[in-house]
Amino acid sequence: DKPWTVPGLAAAKREGRKLAMLTCYDAGFARTLDAAGIDLVLVGDSLGMVVQGRDSTLPVTVADIAYHTACVARGLSRALLVSDLPFAADADPARALEASVAFLQAGAGMVKLEGAGHKLEVIRHLVEREIPVCAHLGLTPQSVLRLGGYKVQGRDEAAAARLREDARAVQAAGASMLVLECVPSGVAAAITADLDIPTIGIGAGPGCDGQVLVLHDMLGLDSGHRRPRFVKDFLAEGGSVAAAALAYAEAVREGRFPDAEHAYA
Ligand code: KIV
Ligand code: NA
Repeated sequence: DKPWTVPGLAAAKREGRKLAMLTCYDAGFARTLDAAGIDLVLVGDSLGMVVQGRDSTLPVTVADIAYHTACVARGLSRALLVSDLPFAADADPARALEASVAFLQAGAGMVKLEGAGHKLEVIRHLVEREIPVCAHLGLTPQSVLRLGGYKVQGRDEAAAARLREDARAVQAAGASMLVLECVPSGVAAAITADLDIPTIGIGAGPGCDGQVLVLHDMLGLDSGHRRPRFVKDFLAEGGSVAAAALAYAEAVREGRFPDAEHAYA
């Protein structure tokens, strides 16, 4: 199989091929996920919680993400590598550009940032400078202080309408992909139908163009935090990390994950 490219992602959506994405933080796991046919690998700022043992993603730095991006990049030959802009690194276009250049030079093929609003200007700034961007809407963990916790977003009609508008806006600003986290399945499906770019769901139901899970969660590791409803342990049925990654990729491609039990109505 050929390595994934950014235009390949949009083509996959047009052809109805679902995308399987997992987070990853080091070369050993990267090699295994790549060999299992995982399409996209995310160096998420979730590393603050699952690798560094913190209570939120807020303390994660650009240097942290750049280090793990370089580690993961050495393990990949086919998957597209996406790196998270950590808290406040995308607060203004100049800072976001500097961090994104570091991630691309470490081996990332795309950067991800949370939110719309003033972030639309940041997305345009990066895309105009040849940096592919993945947007992230719904539950944005970097907003935890304002939100007061990790809660499902877009539940009422007004919030769902705002989410749909933001999704159209990030696509118009030039984003190549959109992560939707913890939103009702119907809202995520409507957004997916609205957009030409692929949507990747996490707790966003089966109607998205792809799915992502945190690696530690899908391997059944105890994070020390309450396990969200959308998490499934694929190691339990797979028996090895490689088999778990393969089982996850197949379940995503065949539309078997997530089922209703792992989604919000
Ligand atoms: O940091 C992360 O792992 C993420 C995914 C959960 C989408 O942003
Ligand atoms: Na993240």
